[in-house]
Amino acid sequence: MKTEERRVIRLSEYAPYPFRVDSLALAFDLDPAKTRVQATLRLTRTGTAADLELDGEDMTLVSVALDGETLPADRYTAGDGKLVVRGVPDAFTLDVVTEFAPAENTKLEGLYVSDGMFCTQCEAQGFRRITYFPDRPDVMTRYTVTLRADKAAYPVLLSNGNRIEQGDLDGGRHFAVWEDPFNKPSYLFALVAGDLERVQDGFRTRSGRDIELNIWVEHGNGPRCTFAMESLKKAMKWDEDVYGLEYDLDLFNVVAVSAFNMGAMENKSLNIFNAKAILADPDTATDAEYEYVESVVAHEYFHNWTGNRITCRDWFQLSLKEGLTVFRDQQFSADMRSAPVERINQVRSLRGRQFPEDGGPLAHPVRPDSYIEINNFYTATVYDKGAEVIRMMHRLLGAEAYRKGIDLYVERHDGTAATCDDFAAAMADAGGRDLSQFKLWYSQAGTPQLRVTETYEDGVYALTIRQHTDPTPGQPDKRPLHIPLEVGFLDRTGQPLPVRLEGEDTAADSRVLELREAEQTFRFTGLAEKPVPSLNRGFTAPVRLVETPHTDADRALLMAHDPDTFARWEAGQQYAVDLLLKMVAARAAGSNEGPDTAAFVEALGSSAADESLDAAFRAQVLTLPSDDFLAEQMAVIDIDGIHAAREALRRDIARAHGALFRRLRDTHRAAAGPFAPTAEGAGHRALANAALSYLGLDAANAKLALEQYRAADNMTDAMAALRVLNDLDVPERAEALDHFHDRFKGDPLVLDKWFSLQAMSQRPDTLARLKDLMGHPAFSMRNPNRVRALIGVFANANPVRFHAEDGAGYAFLVDRVLELNSLNPQIGARLLQPMGRWRRMEAARKALMTRELDRVLATPDLAPDVYEIASKARA
Ligand code: PHE
Ligand code: ZN
Repeated sequence: MKTEERRVIRLSEYAPYPFRVDSLALAFDLDPAKTRVQATLRLTRTGTAADLELDGEDMTLVSVALDGETLPADRYTAGDGKLVVRGVPDAFTLDVVTEFAPAENTKLEGLYVSDGMFCTQCEAQGFRRITYFPDRPDVMTRYTVTLRADKAAYPVLLSNGNRIEQGDLDGGRHFAVWEDPFNKPSYLFALVAGDLERVQDGFRTRSGRDIELNIWVEHGNGPRCTFAMESLKKAMKWDEDVYGLEYDLDLFNVVAVSAFNMGAMENKSLNIFNAKAILADPDTATDAEYEYVESVVAHEYFHNWTGNRITCRDWFQLSLKEGLTVFRDQQFSADMRSAPVERINQVRSLRGRQFPEDGGPLAHPVRPDSYIEINNFYTATVYDKGAEVIRMMHRLLGAEAYRKGIDLYVERHDGTAATCDDFAAAMADAGGRDLSQFKLWYSQAGTPQLRVTETYEDGVYALTIRQHTDPTPGQPDKRPLHIPLEVGFLDRTGQPLPVRLEGEDTAADSRVLELREAEQTFRFTGLAEKPVPSLNRGFTAPVRLVETPHTDADRALLMAHDPDTFARWEAGQQYAVDLLLKMVAARAAGSNEGPDTAAFVEALGSSAADESLDAAFRAQVLTLPSDDFLAEQMAVIDIDGIHAAREALRRDIARAHGALFRRLRDTHRAAAGPFAPTAEGAGHRALANAALSYLGLDAANAKLALEQYRAADNMTDAMAALRVLNDLDVPERAEALDHFHDRFKGDPLVLDKWFSLQAMSQRPDTLARLKDLMGHPAFSMRNPNRVRALIGVFANANPVRFHAEDGAGYAFLVDRVLELNSLNPQIGARLLQPMGRWRRMEAARKALMTRELDRVLATPDLAPDVYEIASKARA
């Protein structure tokens, strides 16, 4: 199909659905080879349409009956994703029977089978693969669901809401009836049927109601759910305390499944999770994975209000629920753990994933204007930049007014499908602020760039700030945004100086400047010397500071003394970026004379050695900016140069601080003590392991790493040791990897780490090894976790090997994408995204990458998911 023939969905074409669905009864006869679904819809006309149009795909339509009478074939047409029933009355009942084979559903959307259990995934448009229905989020109704299945194979039958009936049927089958008292859109429907182990607990709400909590997992995995259950209870409490939001049913179920396209799904009272986001124990989960479980459990739970009680009018409003819920889970994590370290991790991920997206061919606004396939818009922009937008409102209004805004939003929109504008209006009204310019953050794509210059004359310090956003696809001209930018001042000894705007009486240690124009000058008085400015403290705005008045000495000063912990880390990162880019340039010019790194290396060592600082924070300081973040700053990306520079700087650091790193590794390993998945323990392990990673640059320390691997009482230390060995050409590498494989070969979820390590390895034989691993008995193209572990990691976390000069990495990726095009196009489209970076590559790689994209586009029967990414990436 050509571009013109693909159906583009546009926000500007939104129209309400012309019928109301008064209720929906679903009855499932579950069978992997042939499941039959009877749907009974009660409908009332609310608009002017004569015909009823329902969405549906990949099913056999068995029958359609209107008010109990089977309709003759000339009253309806089914095809092209729709069922159209002609000339329907004003109010009527429609019975639709459909059939399909869940066992053959490899897309993992709709109803499918994962490891012998039935489960569903309906967001965004999976429900239309179960029955014919207006599959759009603004059509909400009450669901009653009957499940019938073989009792021995599927003893557990779950759906949304409350179970109101159950019993046995003939032929070894049984049934359960579930009723959800809340109106919901089809994307929040879920069912699960399987033979599952139950982990049970309870929570008493602040109003004194007792909620039954269950986590359902594969038999034997019960003990790995303790942490997820604790996280759930903490999240429930936190949402009451901080947002005043209480759970609204008596039952909350969570189910873990092994084949899942995303992290997890917030179906009303029946959250379905990728097993990866639930299971955690010391032997199998790293600290980062524990933290991931905690935040995903909280995120899905928080959706009960921000997503379910108030849902989205249309999919362009996706960030209404996702940006807000990510912000809420970030606040939660900051309260559970170290707030600055959480912020550092968020900013790393924003820079590593969202900034490149916003600066590339797939750039789109937080509230997109159009899409071909909505699955392609579950992006870092909608989620993470969307969360930054909420964070900025929080900042502009202050915590108290923000909370009033939330209350008002809930009061106005509970039980309805709302828009981003509705949310902003609630915030503006509660905060008494004009957010009209601010709302450009929703509609304008691209990362703003700030250029900051200073003057100091007659005791007046002036900061001139210019903002600019580059054009993005479809948006050639950008307007100035309303940007909150927190600044503070330090003197030459590192003491804070007051921030007082000219003409104002009050001085503070820090204040939020509000930028609204392309260029603005802020004048500050009461300063006896020119201060060193600390800019964008706490990362108040998701912008790039492309020009600042900072010297290397200023950066070292901020690293050592900024009272804002985040800003201290940031000063180190900016310092490193400057040096690394100079090193890349020197290498490209064939010069042996790089910049002098000594002062930076020393400043880094002082921070790392400073026992008054949090261990987790010091580990962050020791982690240099990623290859991807550096690539973002180059007009033409020098893949090998960036990598070589980063490694060279790491070696400089290792050489200068060998003794310090040995000490840090030993003392913080000891300080961590026996494993417990606490933020504090994780901080000690992170610092000890950051030190180990520097020590491990020297092959002579392979033994040390192997010893750590053998002695580890937890996965974090084991993986840190493996990561060191992974890039070395030493016998210890194979020894440890083989041991890991033998230990975990029965657990595919853990084996993913073993696949990923090999996909990340810098060794020249990596691609050949990956091709072998595709034949490993635990590997399957049908399981998204396996695909991401092996192929996703290779394409996204191994720039040197993925971008190999002969193009073999690109060809390998595209072969896999084409395989997934028919199997699971949603996953295929995601894998393809790194190919969009061709524009910033040098000529040879450009040619190789575009040739591969053209190969995708020339393939017949491209799924819309893959087509959309390939065509936009190539454009
Ligand atoms: N809504 C889910 C979340 O962010 C993500 C998701 C989207 C899961 C689509 C599955 C399919 O919480
Ligand atoms: Zn979400």
